[in-house]
Amino acid sequence: MKAKLAAGNWKMNGLGRDLSEVRALISAMGAPSCEVLICPPATLIDRMRILADETVLQVGAQDCHAQASGAHTGDTSVAMLADAGATHVIVGHSERRADHGETDAQVQAKTQAVLGQGLVAIVCVGETETQRDAGQTLAIVGAQMRGSMPEGCTAQMVVVAYEPVWAIGTGRTPTLAQIEEVHAFMRRELTERFGSEGAAMRLLYGGSVKPSNASEIFALANVDGALVGGASLKAADFGQIVAALGAAS
Ligand code: 13P
Repeated sequence: MKAKLAAGNWKMNGLGRDLSEVRALISAMGAPSCEVLICPPATLIDRMRILADETVLQVGAQDCHAQASGAHTGDTSVAMLADAGATHVIVGHSERRADHGETDAQVQAKTQAVLGQGLVAIVCVGETETQRDAGQTLAIVGAQMRGSMPEGCTAQMVVVAYEPVWAIGTGRTPTLAQIEEVHAFMRRELTERFGSEGAAMRLLYGGSVKPSNASEIFALANVDGALVGGASLKAADFGQIVAALGAAS
């Protein structure tokens, strides 16, 4: 199993001045025994990568286009993201699925593009509150994983993030038993499809992770890290989450 991963998703937040938080994080976190990644908006990837150079911090992107180049105004290819310094790309985040109508097939094409450039894909899945209330959580998560992940995914190249839509930015989280149930299901499904690679693939939990709940979430079976939104914007909060993951590693 690769090292656990604390990943921050800055979403559409962050200007040059906010890089001070990254400087503070780098000096506060020392040498954690987990991987640490921040995915800033595309405009900050290059500047953040320069700050992170020679440190443990890795820099990623929040989305990509599936094509390598061409007439796609406003879009960014994986090669461009890699050129700016990204080592990881988040694909299929629920906000992109909702805001831009991204389908599993489109997410799969993006995942393929990420793998084709040798970057790590962080594939996001998760149910809405209505789907959970209807008892469809595992069916939805299973279908999204099957549809969004191409053949040949390896533990080296792919990370899967379980992000219940209703827990994102709401301060609400599933119970620990609910997180454990979904992660165990994901592990079974991935192992069935990808064999030992699926058994070793890192599974992140995302949705209102904060310093006060990080340790109990990281103690759960099949939780190999977190994808953190709001709490990744502040060095003090994200630093505590990194420390909690390091302690659980
Ligand atoms: P919050 O941590 O702000 O709930 O966001 C989670 C998320 O969407 C990470 O990708």
